[in-house]
Formats: sequence, structure tokens, C-alpha cells
Amino acid sequence: MTAAIEPTAVTATDRALRRAHQLASDFLASLPERPVSFLPSPEEMAAALDEALPEAGSDPAAVVDEWFARAERGITASPGPRFFGFVTGGVTPAALAGDWLASAIDQNAGLWASSPAAAQTELVVLRWLKELFGLPADWAGALTSGATMANLIGLIAARQWAGRQLGFDAAGDGLAGRPPIVVASSTEIHLSAVKCLATLGLGRNQLRKAAAAGGSVDVAAMAALLRGIDGPVIIVGNAAEVNSGHFDDIAALADLRDAHPAGAWLHVDGAFGLFAGASPRFAHFNRGIERADSVASDAHKWLNVPYDSGFAFVRDAAILREAFAAGGAYVAGGAGWDPFTHVPEMSRRFRGLAAWCALKAFGRDGYRAVVERCVDNAAAFARWIEATPGVELMNAAPLNIVCFRLLDGGRDDQATDELNRRAVDAIQRDGRAFVTGTVWNGHTAIRAAFDNWQTTPDDVAMLQAAVADVARSLST
Ligand SMILES: Cc1ncc(COP(=O)(O)O)c(C=O)c1O
Repeated sequence: MTAAIEPTAVTATDRALRRAHQLASDFLASLPERPVSFLPSPEEMAAALDEALPEAGSDPAAVVDEWFARAERGITASPGPRFFGFVTGGVTPAALAGDWLASAIDQNAGLWASSPAAAQTELVVLRWLKELFGLPADWAGALTSGATMANLIGLIAARQWAGRQLGFDAAGDGLAGRPPIVVASSTEIHLSAVKCLATLGLGRNQLRKAAAAGGSVDVAAMAALLRGIDGPVIIVGNAAEVNSGHFDDIAALADLRDAHPAGAWLHVDGAFGLFAGASPRFAHFNRGIERADSVASDAHKWLNVPYDSGFAFVRDAAILREAFAAGGAYVAGGAGWDPFTHVPEMSRRFRGLAAWCALKAFGRDGYRAVVERCVDNAAAFARWIEATPGVELMNAAPLNIVCFRLLDGGRDDQATDELNRRAVDAIQRDGRAFVTGTVWNGHTAIRAAFDNWQTTPDDVAMLQAAVADVARSLST
């Protein structure tokens, strides 16, 4: 037996943790100056990390050290204040400490019996989140690995409900030979929900879509779509759309749900937009969300807890339990809540601890301030774009997403698209700020999302400087 795997190697554990702590502290301290990405090539990363399975073990502290040194050029500054790509949150101090502790105490948060502390903490976190967003206290819920898994849970419950309306048990009997379950959304449904439809056997190509010019569903178009559907239907709403930050009118979708003769289920993808509910300034964007049947959201975005973390709520706990019902004498009946009865997994990470620490340390006021600061930063950036020649705001930015593009004189559409593809790459290479590309209204565009609790107006100024410098350098 080598020293690394001796069970009594407490000192080795301690040394490895101290080394990890040092590396983590140095990394976090470097975030203000660190390039947001070194943009290494796949070949460079393979050369840095690929090797055959080691035959013999090594000292744990040395292992951690070696990985960091070899991988470093592939580590992005995504927890930092100038990473505006995709929709990316940072990590609050309490969330990080809670996450480390969760790994150290290594609880299985799938069953009450394996960790009463994890199960009860998760229940408290779910309750706090409902209070933060003004959702009904009696909704069932669960923590997930992200919004995609949260969408999956909401849509699994919806599928179970729809099967019942059509006279069968979707989870028990399967879908083969049954009437199809119809799903309707706007054209701007997030790919995450579409992946769920594929996973659930509902078929990504079966989705019926209503127009959503500007990002919000056209309610009249959705009403017309629903009029053409005879049976029960699952409606998927956006709160909010990922390129524009625009919300569907959730109250109007709930009205359409109520009016559908054969019944309907309203699922809302609130991966980041649900957090508008943490501020009285923006809560109106989610008007009617408390009337939804299920809601999905992310914690690793605006709650600023480490990856991976999300959460799902379902109004009807019984339908959720029915969807996940599974026998097994060896896991039967915990004295308290068994989270595995509400989620696809059995064993699972104790995500609740990071979220509990984050919510306890910031409180309602802290999260209200984080959301308001991020939206103010986004608004300041959008105003700068509107005031700057050669840059175009592609959509009003109501919340935390700003979609824009460079415009350079006489270029045609194709050349403008190419300019913006090059601009995304050039901004990322510049290293001051990380943005990502998209296509909006048929045009190649650039997105900046503001979710990090630490981003300041100085960081926004650096983003602006990077965009202005790149625009100058690429102009003809
Ligand atoms: C609206 C929306 N839904 C779902 C997702 C998927 O979230 P995750 O990557 O956490 O699964 C995202 C991610 O950006 C999103 O913006």
C-alpha cells in the first residue's frame, strides 16, 4: 500500500486541503487582474493534461498542485466580475465555504436516512427560495444540478399530468401506443427545455411554436395555437428569454391555461428571470408566476453558488411523487423527507449547504441588492451602446442581458455578421472581458449577461473599453 492510500493518512488529507486552499485563495485573488480566458487550443490542453492512467499513486498535495499547474491555461475567470458570457454567476464567500464543507462531510442527500441534516437543509433552502420569489409556500420542490434538470423535473410532472388527462400513467405504462402529449411554447424556448422534450419521449420536433418577435411570446398567436389543439397541452413559458432578457406574459399564459377546454399545464423556465422577483423594482416581470404549475431555475447563475446547482418547484406534490415512484425495500420510508422521491437521481450531492450558507449570509436584502446592482450595470452598458457610434443595441434590455452588434459603414449583412463573429473572438482574446456570440433576429450578435455579485461600474467600464478598442481595430 502506498502512502497516498493508507487509511490513516490524516496528515496527507490535511496537507492536500491546505494546498487546495492556497491554490484557491491565490486564484480568487488573481481574478481582478487575470485574463478572463487564455483561449488555449484543444491541442494545447491535450498536451498539458493527457497521459496514461498512472500505475502508481502520488502524494495528494502534489497531485492537486500538479493538476493546477498543468490545467491553468484552461481555467477561465468565470467566477470573476468581468465574465459576461452565457449566463454565468460567481460564488459568494459563504457559498464557497459551504460547498467545501459539503465535500468534506460527504453526505448523500438522496435519502433522509443517509443524511437528515442534508434533507432538512434542502427543505429549508426550498422554503427560503419560495419566500424570496413570492411563490406559494405549499409547492413541492427539489434542488437540481441546474435549470436543465429543473426543467426536466417540471416537464416530467407535466407529462404525468397530461397522461392522466388522456387516461394513462406515463411513468408507469410508458408512452408507446398512447395518444401524443402536445407541448406549446414560443419560438424562443430555451434549448434546455427542448433537450428535456427529447429526453422525455415527447419529441423535440413535436413542439408547437407561437411567434415571439422581440423575445416575448405573442399572446394572441399563442391563443390561436392553443385553439387548434383539441386535447390537454403543456405550455412552456420563458422568464426570461436568454438573448434579450424579455419575459413572456406569464399571467396571460396562465389565463390561456385556465381557458383551455381540455386542460393545460403551465411550466415556466425561470433559469435567471425568476430572480427578478427578489427586487420590488423588477418583480412585475414575473407577474402571474405564482399561478404556474411548475417553475425551473438556476442557483449557479444569480444565486451565485458554485456549479452545479438549480432548483425546481411543482404545485402538485402528488403528481411529482407519482412520476418518481419507485419501490425498493432497502430504501423504504425514511423518518423524514426522502429527496429521491422528487428527483431523477438516487444518490446526490449535498447542494443545499452552499445555497443555505449563501442565503443566510446575504439574506433577502443582500440578494435584492445583487439583482439590482446587476440590472443597473446592464442598463449602464446598454446606455453606453446606444450613445456609441458603430455599436447597435439589438433589443431594449429590461433585465440583465444586453444584446448588441458592431456596425461598420458600408458592409452588407453577410460582412456585418462576419465582423461580429470576429469581434466576439477578439474581445475574448483581449482578455479584459468575456462575452459570447449569438444570432438575434437573423443577425450575428454579441451578448453580455450581468449575474456576478462582484461586478462593479469599473468592470463595466473595462467591458466598454474592450468593445470600443476591438471595434476600432476591426473597422475598415
Ligand atoms: C432560460 C434558460 N433556461 C435554461 C438554461 C439551462 O441552464 P443550465 O445550464 O443550468 O442547465 C439556461 C442557461 O443559460 C437559460 O438561460
